[in-house]
Amino acid sequence: MVRAEVLICAFCVVLVSTSIIEANESVGVNWGTMASHPIHPKIIVDMLKANGIKKVKLFDADGWTVKHLAGTGIETMIAIPNDMLSTFSKDYDNCKDWVKENVTKHMYNGGVDIKYVAVGNEPFLTTYNGTFVKDTLPALKNIQKALEDAGYGDQIKATVPLNADVYDSSNNKPSTGDWRSDIRSLMIEIVKFLHSKNAPFVVNIYPFLSLNLNKDFPLDFAFIDGGGKTTNDNGVQYNNVFDANYDTLVWALKKSGVSDIKIIVGEIGWPTDGADHASVDLAHRFYKGFMKKMANKKGTPLRPGHLDVFLFSLLDENTKSIAPGAFERHWGIFRYNGQPKFPIDLACTGQDKWPVPAQGIQYLPFKWCVFKDDKKDEMAKASENVNYACSIADCTPLGYSCEDLDKTGKISYAFNIYFQMQDQDVQACDFQGLAEITNNNASRNGCNFPIEIMSAGDRLKLVSVTNIVFLLFIVIALM
Ligand SMILES: *[C@@H]1O[C@H](CO)[C@@H](O)[C@H](O)[C@H]1NC(C)=O
Ligand SMILES: *[C@@H]1O[C@H](CO)[C@@H](O)[C@H](O)[C@H]1NC(C)=O
Ligand SMILES: *[C@@H]1O[C@H](CO)[C@@H](O)[C@H](O)[C@H]1NC(C)=O
Ligand SMILES: *[C@@H]1O[C@H](CO)[C@@H](O)[C@H](O)[C@H]1NC(C)=O
Repeated sequence: MVRAEVLICAFCVVLVSTSIIEANESVGVNWGTMASHPIHPKIIVDMLKANGIKKVKLFDADGWTVKHLAGTGIETMIAIPNDMLSTFSKDYDNCKDWVKENVTKHMYNGGVDIKYVAVGNEPFLTTYNGTFVKDTLPALKNIQKALEDAGYGDQIKATVPLNADVYDSSNNKPSTGDWRSDIRSLMIEIVKFLHSKNAPFVVNIYPFLSLNLNKDFPLDFAFIDGGGKTTNDNGVQYNNVFDANYDTLVWALKKSGVSDIKIIVGEIGWPTDGADHASVDLAHRFYKGFMKKMANKKGTPLRPGHLDVFLFSLLDENTKSIAPGAFERHWGIFRYNGQPKFPIDLACTGQDKWPVPAQGIQYLPFKWCVFKDDKKDEMAKASENVNYACSIADCTPLGYSCEDLDKTGKISYAFNIYFQMQDQDVQACDFQGLAEITNNNASRNGCNFPIEIMSAGDRLKLVSVTNIVFLLFIVIALM
């Protein structure tokens, strides 16, 4: 009896492990480039490969980035930004040109494995007040047609990454899921179109935002480690918000008559700074639970099995808009310099490990800009200068991970981050005579005062032009 059980069990293990070896899960990552000092794309691509990442999603079709993916076999989603939707909805010739320049160019033998074109990014967010509602579907149709006319109809699909706010439910029951009422008929048209083209529905789901936007949200329900209190939806049990949210979408799709459409999670992740629940520890907890679900091919109650996912995000981006919150610049699994923040199972092996950092990063000299010790009686002047520095450089850690700094520490942080952003230009460490450059590491109270990296060449000019525009804007605002 005992022996028979052992035999059966051994058999099971063999079966299970064979199936794992045959088809390991893989996740994709979102690779955004809104940083003052972007890392060279070649270094990033090597980092993706070193970490076993086989899929990447971009926010534009910048040829300089895209061309470095050639020959890697990494499946790529390129994108059309929202501000181009109106052009593409009206003018088919523009779509043809876009496909020629941004797709065809990369499709040679040994080129880039482009799988998807994202037409817009979350164009129906309520905060956009309907700006992109009218143009999105016509642009989607035009781009899809341009892909087909260029001969890529089977290989490359156009789709529209949407925020999970395009659908909702009542009483948090997934089975009540349906499209948001103001765009309901449009959503039905879109999903029918995607379905007819065998294109996926791409949705961005943010358990962090559910928690961050709602004081009463139960903390454990945001994570995927089984600690959440279970809710019941007609006999189906949910113990985390990701499953509940995903299945709400599954219901909405079903009610639109496209229950078998492929779903891709276009963005999911957890930030590490800039909000109460944004920390390295909680991000680690979130990814640990989520990647375990991925490695085990657990899926959700309504769609068990494989999930198609792009994590958000690869890197911190210090020039992103902080309109959604200070956390917006801190979504990276890696810091601005390609150093990992926490162990994570990027290759879906079932085990956390420290990711391989970016190799070959070059730093600016180890110099910091700090508030002069003998200027402590000039606080009013200092605070004007801090406001100026922080209107240009990224001071978002000050209210969060660096909040333990004292007043002079905070002033130094602002001066230093501005100085670094300006490539340590001597004139950027003056602040009306209040600041000085030092060779001593200014980090203190658990707050890291970063040294900026050398920007990947081509981008430098662009960045300084942007800064000049910012400067002019601020000068005008002060007058
Ligand atoms: C190709 O994509 C880039 C980057 O997104 C964009 O700036 C450019 O205008 C596109 N080309 C065409 C012909 O539309
Ligand atoms: C949307 O409308 C609100 C209120 O009318 C306004 O404050 C906001 O700037 C608008 N946003 C956009 C993107 O038009
Ligand atoms: C698949 O995952 C297993 C661990 O579950 C690991 O040992 C194996 O190396 C992985 N295979 C590939 C091809 O990455
Ligand atoms: C400065 O000190 C901090 C805290 O000890 C450390 O994490 C960081 O690596 C140091 N920076 C440099 C450039 O040595």
